[in-house]
Amino acid sequence: IPVDPFDLVIFGGTGDLAIGKILPALFRRWRAGQIPEDARVIGAARADLDDDSYRALVAGALAPEVGAGGDLDGFLGILEYRRIDVGEAAGWPDLAARLAGSGDRVQAFYFSVAPGLYGALAERLQAHGLAGAGTRVVVEKPFGSDLASARTLNRDLAAHFDEGQIYRIDHYLGKETVQNLMAVRFGNMLFEPLWNSQYVDHIQITVAETVGVGGRGAYYDGAGAMRDMVQNHLMQLLCLIAMEPPARFAPDELRDEKLKVIRALDPVLPHHIVRGQYEQEGDGYRAAVGNPRSRTESYIALKTHISNWRWAGTPFYLRTGKRLVARSSVINVMFKDAPHSIFGAEAGRHANVLSIRLQPNEGITLKVTIKEPGPGGMRLVDVPLDMSFAEALAAEDHDRPDAYERLIMDVIRGNQTLFMRGDEVEAAWAWTDPIIAGWEARGDVPKPYDNGSTGPGDAELLMQRDGRRWQGIK
Ligand code: BG6
Repeated sequence: IPVDPFDLVIFGGTGDLAIGKILPALFRRWRAGQIPEDARVIGAARADLDDDSYRALVAGALAPEVGAGGDLDGFLGILEYRRIDVGEAAGWPDLAARLAGSGDRVQAFYFSVAPGLYGALAERLQAHGLAGAGTRVVVEKPFGSDLASARTLNRDLAAHFDEGQIYRIDHYLGKETVQNLMAVRFGNMLFEPLWNSQYVDHIQITVAETVGVGGRGAYYDGAGAMRDMVQNHLMQLLCLIAMEPPARFAPDELRDEKLKVIRALDPVLPHHIVRGQYEQEGDGYRAAVGNPRSRTESYIALKTHISNWRWAGTPFYLRTGKRLVARSSVINVMFKDAPHSIFGAEAGRHANVLSIRLQPNEGITLKVTIKEPGPGGMRLVDVPLDMSFAEALAAEDHDRPDAYERLIMDVIRGNQTLFMRGDEVEAAWAWTDPIIAGWEARGDVPKPYDNGSTGPGDAELLMQRDGRRWQGIK
């Protein structure tokens, strides 16, 4: 279904995010017929380009996409460019004039720039009459680096926009399986009655990456896995797994429930957390970030509890890291053993595991116990009930949309359900701040782990001490 005509201005329109994610996502939505012909997408940046040279830049970046077919010229036709520097007055009147008189079209401004510029951008928009009640602004992580800086960003935005106009992206919420997680939890009768500490032994959330820090060394070395991944992506996954059913699938209903989860999180004890840093002769983390004494973690494993009625007693284990053995994001809900085996010890015992795979091979698997086939005795094995979304989507002839496609279209549709609210982000920082402060106070040094491994051995010990094991990363 096509969205209404809109104007989308991308500040930082020549940057990596715009070129690598936002514009390809828009192109795919265009190809799918969702973007009307009179929509306008305006790239704005400091580079000295014009409409044509910007279109050429974007066309180059979209070349791999175009192979799959699609009207590239049509899409380039809705693109424009404006040379704008947030620190300079030039360019703004022209942008304002271009956007004037578009009636009640949706106008959205994507702040694809360093967070330090959000306040100044918001002010400029206001000064040029571009911050009306219908305006929407989109911001990306990192949303601050601690509670104090997140509060400042929220305050700077709130000075010009209502919360209902601010779309804070966590792209994990746009991932197909993350939304499916809610469909599975709240669309079925089967799982929800068991979804509590009486039946769930523990929950594992793993986001393993094979990539290193790439060209983002300067940012990453100041952030580390805790700020870069745990405070946002893993925390959002934890919220969706743990929250109470919202009354409706609507923005504030959902975000209220997520906020309650974050507020109920126990502080993490120092011995319940393992930090790691990948190592390899000549190609380790420290070389990658150009800081031979860096104490920043590229890996985190931790255990936490949610102190509420549903989850007291069920630990949540979270881990994420770079340069691990495989790319794999999966949530494992580990059910308890059956209380008693009627088949005797020799039959073996298997607990149910519900695995929600975010990437790759999106899908959901439920391990159930059955009798080992054949004429032998009564021996038990577990088999997966597998629901692979790739197959299901292929069968239905659906394209699997990238997270950004879904999220950008939601901005245009004015649906904030999959975006983070300001208080949620602050609550998440309030939980991570003391953990990070503790490391700094103790001068904590991350444990080395091999490039291409499953992370530091201490992460295994964290589980073993509790009589548990991580599910395999591959
Ligand atoms: C980003 C982090 O938010 O998410 C990156 O800054 C990380 O460090 C990326 O690599 C992972 O996203 P995805 O979609 O590839 O799992």
